[in-house]
Amino acid sequence: MNISMRVLALCGSVLSTGFAAQAAEISIAANSTGKGLNFIREQVSVFEKQTGHKVKIVSMPPSSSEQFSQYRLWLAAGNTDVDVYQTDVVWAPQLAEQFVDLTEATKDVIGQHFPSIVASQTVDGKLVAMPMYTDAPALFYRKDLLEKYSKQPPKTWTELAETAKDIQDKERAAGLKDIWGFVFQGSAYEGLTCNALEWIASAGGGRIVETNGDISINNEKAAAALDMAKSWIGTISPQGALAYKEEEARGIWQTGNSVFMRNWTYTYALGNGADSAIKGKFGVVPLPAGAEGIAPASTLGGWNVAVSKYSKHQDVAIALVKFLGSAETQKKRAVELSNMPTIAALYDDKDVAAAQPFMPLWKPIFETAVPRPSAATKVKYNEVSAKFWGAVHNTLSGTGSAAENLELLEVELTDLKGNGW
Ligand code: GLC
Repeated sequence: MNISMRVLALCGSVLSTGFAAQAAEISIAANSTGKGLNFIREQVSVFEKQTGHKVKIVSMPPSSSEQFSQYRLWLAAGNTDVDVYQTDVVWAPQLAEQFVDLTEATKDVIGQHFPSIVASQTVDGKLVAMPMYTDAPALFYRKDLLEKYSKQPPKTWTELAETAKDIQDKERAAGLKDIWGFVFQGSAYEGLTCNALEWIASAGGGRIVETNGDISINNEKAAAALDMAKSWIGTISPQGALAYKEEEARGIWQTGNSVFMRNWTYTYALGNGADSAIKGKFGVVPLPAGAEGIAPASTLGGWNVAVSKYSKHQDVAIALVKFLGSAETQKKRAVELSNMPTIAALYDDKDVAAAQPFMPLWKPIFETAVPRPSAATKVKYNEVSAKFWGAVHNTLSGTGSAAENLELLEVELTDLKGNGW
């Protein structure tokens, strides 16, 4: 072997042992709604190629509430098998203790993100999770059907119900037997909390628990908003909507069987997918308002990535969350999945606007979106939300009136609050 060959061989062995010594295997738990999991899988393989590390994906159920319950069990047990957790925007105060502080590690990039989102993931000065995308729902409407019947997209919930009923009845009479007026998320889970908060806040009925911690839910406007939603069941919305989460509503909508849909922005890209019966036939507008003069309310959603304090490879896990939250990955996510970036500059990006024309217009809707009372109710948010969606679900399914259920809810929340949240 000549000298240069020997040098090459030596370099090779140093490189390979160096690489092997550093390579780690980590895992990420991720939500399986829509194409979210596929996207993470693709991005993770880019990360693996760039770093030499291996990343396993743990698929979580599409329901945010079920995912939360599972996380709570794992984290309470100090699970070392999951290093990175995809987290819903409302979980930061409840899981803060179990995650690594990302402040120092993200100080080079965190300034790119909307300060309000960073604030929502910061608990007592600790950055609990890296923002990955933000979310605000829209009213999706069938452009072709509204044009056919000379209707405008509705501005109030009352108008929505009227237009939905009118078009539904006429289309059924014309032979489309399976069509409904409106689909939304009525299953008893976190998504129903988001929907019902929109009906109530846009009617001037408050935010369940106000930012100062006061329980405001037992009021006439809130009860009227729930009665309104109850009147949809079986008339413009199928009975089955009481079991719909995001994907079930999308299923009805995307096969052409609903005039309107309330859903998050990820359904925009999927609705325009090659296999969609309504490709190119729909538009999006802000959700309706409860009454003239009251602003519509979109519940603020969104997802982040956090590093478990039980992870044995925290540095690699931090590198992965930075990669998933980076401008480059968020841009791909916006273009491919129509998820909304948490990085302001991407709303002016030409490629994003070309792929998802609605998105630059959506920035103000996200900026005025209504947060759920997770900051106010701190570690008790999930119980507050579960009691709230329970009262709403009972009302929609005819177990007790809205007024009775909200009165009971107030008693339960007062008890849960005790001396303070
Ligand atoms: C969406 C939102 C999330 C919300 C969930 C409810 O995924 O982004 O914040 O909790 O819907 O189903």
